[in-house]
Amino acid sequence: MRPDRVPERFPLEAPVVPGRVPLAGHAARLHRDALRFVRGLRQYGPVTRIYIGPRPVHVVNSPDIVREVLTSQARSFDKGAMFDALRVPLGDGLITAAGDRHLRHRRLVQPAFHHARIARYAHVMSERSLARAAAWKPGTTVDLVPEIHRLTLDILLRTLFADPQDPELHTAVEDWLSVKYHSMRLALSPLNAWAERLPLLPGWRPPDAGPLRRLVAVQQRIIGAYRAAGQDRGDLLSMLLLAGGPDGALTDAEVTDELITLFLAGTGTVSAALAWALYEISRRPDVQRRIHDELDTALAGRPPGFDDLPALVYTRQVLTEAMRLHPPSWLLMRRTLRPVALGGVQLSPGSEVFFSPYALHRDPQLYEDPDHFEPERWPPQGAAKAPRHTYLPFGAGSRLCVGEDFAWTELTMALAAFTAHRRLTPADSTPVRPLVGTVLRPDRLPLTAHARPS
Ligand code: HEM
Repeated sequence: MRPDRVPERFPLEAPVVPGRVPLAGHAARLHRDALRFVRGLRQYGPVTRIYIGPRPVHVVNSPDIVREVLTSQARSFDKGAMFDALRVPLGDGLITAAGDRHLRHRRLVQPAFHHARIARYAHVMSERSLARAAAWKPGTTVDLVPEIHRLTLDILLRTLFADPQDPELHTAVEDWLSVKYHSMRLALSPLNAWAERLPLLPGWRPPDAGPLRRLVAVQQRIIGAYRAAGQDRGDLLSMLLLAGGPDGALTDAEVTDELITLFLAGTGTVSAALAWALYEISRRPDVQRRIHDELDTALAGRPPGFDDLPALVYTRQVLTEAMRLHPPSWLLMRRTLRPVALGGVQLSPGSEVFFSPYALHRDPQLYEDPDHFEPERWPPQGAAKAPRHTYLPFGAGSRLCVGEDFAWTELTMALAAFTAHRRLTPADSTPVRPLVGTVLRPDRLPLTAHARPS
């Protein structure tokens, strides 16, 4: 080749983020302070490259390119390493499924989350939240992290199954949830990345499969009883069993996978969002006053119901802002299925791509004073319609969270129940720290309840 000749197409490579070290890549920085690390990446460009051990990962830092990944180029991606790992404990439900399987399952599962069904579940959400809040007496301090976990699991069980009192079911779900599934750790582990190249290294091993087996067995017994009765009991499981159409119906094994996916997707995320919202408002008497004014006017002392949601405008602004500052799904991932160009960078098939709702939500070019909790930054009628590519707590495009309306309803009911009749303050001055796993949640949340002056 003549020395002065420029290749016709030469692929642009994403800049490698400084601080890569031999063997570990950027993993040490990621593990030391993942939130700070992902937030700092935008200074190196709209698409950057980091290394987890030997594995390159492209991180997209521009909201416009994230939107491409989620919408216009969505068909060029599947979900990637973390979701491969999740298939071990979850089976192949909606959250892990790819391609045509995902399309079919999405069409079949979506009706269970239809507006009219959520209106029915709202009663359970309100009633269970009020019962749990009522046990929290003024003058007492409670760590809300475990309390909220119990509440969201209780609500999910009662919306999935009209009869959640099956003692075997409760134990089986608790046992299964308590087994730690290291899917995010796996996706960010340099040891695992090396283990893929050098199969003699131990890497990650699937967790104890016993709890999963027991949960599947209990679910199959319940599914058998539903099929025999053949009626709609008003719960999510009935909807999954009744779903049909040109795509056929879900088999028992597929329904089992979907139920397990919903246990995982519908508990930790809602718990984290509610805990962060209560964390923020416990520090802001002005915000609590506005919530109290709104609840007093809209509800006049009665329990909140589905029809009250449109009137709880400020409560919605508070939740929107809490999920901006603390998006439970702080890091999302994809993997290219074919050659893709992102922001001029050429990616070959099989490339891992990360993007962080947390980093986008705290980008000063998108949000003024981004670290400040300011519910008023959302227009009162617009909080429900926050722009989809700069505000991503529920993702976007064809993989948008199927439980989004369910989650908003549950969060609003629970926030109203916990705040309507009490004032909340932090119980101590020990800082609350973010725990960075598959979900971003506070490590603890001790709050003291005080009676509201009448
Ligand atoms: C505040 C609460 C919640 C948050 C922040 C949240 C967040 C998300 C996000 C970001 C995604 C997309 C992931 C991606 O694109 O890779 C997702 C998907 C999903 N979520 Fe949620 N979620 C919440 C509540 C729920 C609830 C209550 C349920 C069900 C009861 C649920 C079920 C699902 C399912 C099944 C998917 C997979 C959808 C698909 O791929 O078609 N989520 N969620």
